[in-house]
Amino acid sequence: MGLNKKSVDDINAKGKRVLVRCDFNVPLKNGEITDDTRIVAALPTIKKLIGDGGKVILCSHLGKVKNGPNEGESLAPVAKRLSEKLGKEVTFVADYNVTGEAATKAVENMKEGDVVLLQNTRFRGAEETKNGEEFSKELADLADLYVCDAFGSSHRAHASVAGVTKFITAKGGQNVVGYLMEKEINFLGKAVEDPVRPFVAILGGAKVADKLNVISNLLEKCDTLIIGGGMAYTFLKAQGYEIGKSLVDDTKIDYCKEMMEKAEKLGKKLLLPVDSVTIADFPNPIDAPVEVQVYDVTNMPADREGCDIGPKTAA
Ligand code: 3PG
Repeated sequence: MGLNKKSVDDINAKGKRVLVRCDFNVPLKNGEITDDTRIVAALPTIKKLIGDGGKVILCSHLGKVKNGPNEGESLAPVAKRLSEKLGKEVTFVADYNVTGEAATKAVENMKEGDVVLLQNTRFRGAEETKNGEEFSKELADLADLYVCDAFGSSHRAHASVAGVTKFITAKGGQNVVGYLMEKEINFLGKAVEDPVRPFVAILGGAKVADKLNVISNLLEKCDTLIIGGGMAYTFLKAQGYEIGKSLVDDTKIDYCKEMMEKAEKLGKKLLLPVDSVTIADFPNPIDAPVEVQVYDVTNMPADREGCDIGPKTAA
């Protein structure tokens, strides 16, 4: 399966305002970026657009932003790291409104090859996460072209990922994918359509609900499907195990049973954890030391919370 999407190679951004959705959702500790892989991964697309002479307007979410805009989830540290990596100044629009006067002014002041980073798109709350028309249009109003290079966010129908494209199209602009998206789509396409066997897929994440089609489709293509992460506990509950206070999606128990039956029917292996690292509660702050105990899934106490696979599972 080749890429059936237009990419940044199909556009010349010279003199154009290009809005690029990146996934700059990087881990932070005390305001410092602890892993800048996602920033580095975005560089090829950004450099291409700078090389074209485009006006490069970057946007991204960071964190879950559960309690409204706050400095702890500002993209300011990303702007700083990005400037270092690009060797040129990235103008950061710190305004919690993301779009609006400050952003518009910053974009108006841009010269060809300049880079601007907007504030965390999730600071707009449900307008972002519910794909709000108003916010989508405000983002599109800043730009002539749109590039999606946020592979890690591309499953989200959010304003900065999905809604914005409609308004770019409406004004005759193009929506294309960046190099990171292109690379991942090609890689995934090959892994799924023409895999090297044995083909083992490993899935994690908190919610079964986010991955319904992925689980079902992968079972048809892979030889072994390994399920870990938070969603493993919903499968374990479906198998009748006590899972204590672990993350669970009770509406998906039947679905998990169906998937286990499907695996059996197809002769595929669906591997679940056999033991679990447990805690009494998640610590606050999240990286504070915490006492852990390992239990087999067959004897998990009701007052413990599973937070990772155990050593037997890893082995
Ligand atoms: C990720 O880190 O998985 C992506 O940035 C998506 O983040 P999200 O799950 O908060 O949408």
